[in-house]
Amino acid sequence: MIQDNLFNYKRFVFLKWALLLTLISSFAYLFDQPRINANGGTWLGYTLGTIGALLIVWLMWFGVRKRQYANETGNLRGWVSAHIYLGLALSVVATLHTGFQIGWNVHSLAYVLTMATIGTGVWGLSFYLRYPTEMSNVLNRQSPEQIVEQIQTLDREAQKQLKNVADMVGRVIAASLKQSIYPNRKSQRRGNVKDCATENAVNYLQREMTQADNLSDLYRNQVQRLRALKQLRRYYHLRYWLELWLSIHVPLSFGLLAALITHVLSVFIYW
Ligand code: HEM
Repeated sequence: MIQDNLFNYKRFVFLKWALLLTLISSFAYLFDQPRINANGGTWLGYTLGTIGALLIVWLMWFGVRKRQYANETGNLRGWVSAHIYLGLALSVVATLHTGFQIGWNVHSLAYVLTMATIGTGVWGLSFYLRYPTEMSNVLNRQSPEQIVEQIQTLDREAQKQLKNVADMVGRVIAASLKQSIYPNRKSQRRGNVKDCATENAVNYLQREMTQADNLSDLYRNQVQRLRALKQLRRYYHLRYWLELWLSIHVPLSFGLLAALITHVLSVFIYW
């Protein structure tokens, strides 16, 4: 049996609804013969505008539904599936509602914010689909805090071993122990650390071990430190993008709601 996922949820029920909505709106637009140029003010314009506004309010309601852990109306996977397909259908409904009349005014601002919110939704979807699984795989059933604790334990062991080694080795290890997961947000965004002191220590000890055989424990310690650092780096890099896109998608949707309210009020005030 094929498992329900975000896309094929209940045999693509929301894809079917979204296609139906898109087709009905498009045919209505094609066959409508308004006496004025097609825009939001014809009967079809008002109908599409009302559907679009209701869709926006419902799409935003998802943020509330997501946090209602006790609520059992539809499961969350179904909600996300509907959110994606009907969110995409909104781009057609909203475009037809405008009648392709875009200008420098609050009505067009609502449209631009709608398309921007949908655009960030599509952009974030690729992160949303792949990153959570990769994040839990990379941690290998541990929490990031547990891996940080492992590094702290490794560092305490390395400190003890430093007494019996040459000055140069001591300096290389001291630098490695100061090496953080990411030195700044830029490296977290890119997901790599230039000139990582722990990586340098591993390479240095690998070379030195051929001459001094008391370095093998320290080498193993640094290899483990580097492995743990790499796990955390990958995890926090993915988390960065996962949080970043939502921190754009959500504020944009609130901006859209404000513009939508202004758009609707101004239409009725100047009617
Ligand atoms: C104007 C249209 C849209 C609005 C107003 C909107 C609004 C929202 C809101 C309020 C949330 C909740 C975020 C939170 O509270 O954590 C959300 C989440 C999300 N949206 Fe949208 N969205 C829109 C379109 C889209 C589209 C077209 C897609 C994808 C193609 C999409 C994908 C997502 C995803 C994947 C989430 C995260 C779900 C989760 O955290 O479980 N959105 N959106």
